[in-house]
Amino acid sequence: MADARPFHWEFEPPKIPRERFLVEGGVALDGTIRVSGAKNAALKMLAAATLTGERCVFSNVPEIEDVRVMAETLSDMGVVVDHPEQNVYEVSAGDVDWLFVPLEAAAKMRASFMLLGPLLSRFGEVVISNPGGDRIGRRPVDLHVDAMRAMGAQIDYRYGYYYAKAPGRLRGTEVRFPFVSVMGTENAMLAATLADGHTVIRPAAQEPEIDDLILFLNKMGAEVSRTYPDTIEVVGKRRLRGAEHSVMPDRIETGTFAIAAGVTGGHVVLEGADGGTIAALVEVLEQTGISVTTGDGRVEVDARSIGPGTMRPVDITTGPYPELATDIQPPTTVLLTQAAGDSRVHEAIFEDRLEWTGELAKMGAKIDLKGTQRAVVHGPAKLHAADVEISDLRAGASLILAALAAEGTSSIGGAHHVRRGYENIERKFLDLGARIERVQEGELGNSG
Ligand code: EPZ
Repeated sequence: MADARPFHWEFEPPKIPRERFLVEGGVALDGTIRVSGAKNAALKMLAAATLTGERCVFSNVPEIEDVRVMAETLSDMGVVVDHPEQNVYEVSAGDVDWLFVPLEAAAKMRASFMLLGPLLSRFGEVVISNPGGDRIGRRPVDLHVDAMRAMGAQIDYRYGYYYAKAPGRLRGTEVRFPFVSVMGTENAMLAATLADGHTVIRPAAQEPEIDDLILFLNKMGAEVSRTYPDTIEVVGKRRLRGAEHSVMPDRIETGTFAIAAGVTGGHVVLEGADGGTIAALVEVLEQTGISVTTGDGRVEVDARSIGPGTMRPVDITTGPYPELATDIQPPTTVLLTQAAGDSRVHEAIFEDRLEWTGELAKMGAKIDLKGTQRAVVHGPAKLHAADVEISDLRAGASLILAALAAEGTSSIGGAHHVRRGYENIERKFLDLGARIERVQEGELGNSG
């Protein structure tokens, strides 16, 4: 089935346009922006739409690279994906004639592995590339594979691909994870919607994006419920129908811009944000002395009275929701460089998510790594402009935040990483009064 496509070792990653951000620091951000839909909800919903042959319509979908890659991956399999207008995607998986998720997709976006559960459950087979690790950690997918096997699938691994088969329907069962996995929970949940019988997933991740996905699945006629905070139960159905859903706001984007107000001593209002989904971060911001108001679909952050150098240090530890999100750890680490004193950072989810701070140190941050998952951030640091390189999505947004707080104009390479997960990030910063532009590699830009 896979012969027409390149073998693992023949794969040439597509050439990515080399772009940089040029950021002039020293401006206190001020203004109102609208938060986009959540990347980590939208991607799973696009995958879930393959559980039915009927049309699914998604609104408030962020216009980001990862969504574009998921749409492309679906189209390559014969799924009809329409994009009638900004932030709206329509998916009709009537004729899926190519049950194959190639290395190209996996290399660009891990969430392509979310196609394992729905395709296996609906079509009984799929060949899917192992997404492998990335800059933040080893990131194996063994829990996903074990969950499918527990439901009766046969899965072999060869040359970087999982060959998965489900003779007959998958069977409902108890899926017990050794620890919490977000996409592990989601993949098992999607597979269970068409399985024969009752499935219990425990411990199930509690991320709000999963509850948004459950809302969409139940609109499709699935029977999925979170019966305890850490338990999801699914009664399998023979078929599901099309449905419409508006994607929840992105809490990591919300947190990133909230911290942008903090590091610049500014005042920002985030329209369309759900403060309830960032409670752990709000607690950290308030501990530093920053004022945060949430409610009525907006989050207001005011750091005008407690700017850089006067904030209080805070110790943080990341964990599964509702603990502090690992995706907001890099931006928070930048904030803590501006606190008056030492803060301890414990990155408890991913092995290598502090490595990027080497770039932050080039801007004058004083950070001592204690192994790969712990660091002491010495503040306040007077950040200055520098030429730095982005290694991954959240580290990228964090280097922009540092540059906004720094003296001078920074040049930040690897802008494509940020475009994977933030919609119109320069536009939004410009609307808040920042001096930022994206230029082709080698181009000087207006501020050069
Ligand atoms: C999701 O990744 C998010 N990605 C990540 O966001 C986020 O950081 C992460 O959850 C944690 O919140 C998407 O939703 C697309 P995990 P996921 O399985 O599901 C280990 C961003 O910036 N593990 O909860 O891959 C794993 O290595 C991204 O938007 C196994 O060992 O994360 C990690 O240490 C980055 N075996 C831990 O579990 C497995 O089979 C938690 O990972 C699965 C996971």
